[in-house]
Amino acid sequence: MKESVYTLPEEFLRRIKIIYPAHFNRICETFLNKRKQTFRINYLKTDLNSLRNFLRKEGIKYKELSWPKGAFILNSDIRHFQRSFIYRDGLVYLQNVSSMIVPFVLGAKAGDRILDLCAAPGAKTTEIASLAGRDTEIVAVEKIRTRYYKLLANLKIQGADFVKTIIMDGIFVRKKFPEYFDKVLLDAPCSSEGRFYTRNPRSFRYWKYRKVKEMAHKQKRLISSAYYALKPGGKLLYSTCTFSPEENEEVVDWALNKFKDKIELLPINIPIKNARNGLIKWRKKTFLKSLSYAIRVIPNDYMEGFFIALFNKL
Ligand SMILES: C[S@@+](CC[C@H](N)C(=O)[O-])C[C@H]1O[C@@H](n2cnc3c(N)ncnc32)[C@H](O)[C@@H]1O
Repeated sequence: MKESVYTLPEEFLRRIKIIYPAHFNRICETFLNKRKQTFRINYLKTDLNSLRNFLRKEGIKYKELSWPKGAFILNSDIRHFQRSFIYRDGLVYLQNVSSMIVPFVLGAKAGDRILDLCAAPGAKTTEIASLAGRDTEIVAVEKIRTRYYKLLANLKIQGADFVKTIIMDGIFVRKKFPEYFDKVLLDAPCSSEGRFYTRNPRSFRYWKYRKVKEMAHKQKRLISSAYYALKPGGKLLYSTCTFSPEENEEVVDWALNKFKDKIELLPINIPIKNARNGLIKWRKKTFLKSLSYAIRVIPNDYMEGFFIALFNKL
């Protein structure tokens, strides 16, 4: 039987139609179909030429993307891929391409002090470690115990166990690390609308507008903590895998107003066709004009819906 997008909450669909009037049908297609699996290189364990050779020898078919560098679409059976040493020994990490973009936009580089405030299961922490290398002080914070252990396991497999990990509520890092970091990533807990899939009712069953508002409240507390943990001149990246403007532009607009002349939003230039500017209006609310510097990634057959905003602390 063909799945129908109308199994998704009606109010949610109505909102998507308002946010993306021109892309509504295309976005609905992505809720109905399983996305292609994608993976990226782990530079802590291999280099690009060796990885291409290993993939060929293991008979794993792939398409290499021109950007972000080191990203691949998997064209072989996932079980075959997961049985190979390439996957088991952590030479690669299975990760959606939208998520891979984040450490590139943050500009993680050797020698930086970097905080990953909501880190588990560690896709972006391990990517930051892979890009920035061992001479970088990386601190990964996670609140939920079971997820924290998953993070530890992934750091180990990926050879990134030089990353310092802390199990704690991210809202307290402001006290533990005042103005300490050059870069802070807040990949915030969110309503995960970008991952809704009609064949997996658990992905959308608990969606309610009230939950969106609750998440926005948490996100504001976390972004405030992230701001205080950042050095002046440092960069803060806020991201979510959700569409709701309440959890995206509204949180960023709230932070810009709260920290007024101490913070600014930076333009993001990334070479992907499905990126759109952040909204500067949602329903009756008008946001600061610089919200157009934020990026909305429109989902497609290999990229999840994502939101990315980059701040500079003055
Ligand atoms: C979107 S996920 C992060 C995904 C991760 N950055 C990655 O790329 O693999 C958000 C994470 O934040 C954690 N979290 C939720 N509230 C938190 C808080 N107050 N402090 C720290 N972590 C929190 C969740 O348990 C979840 O693991």
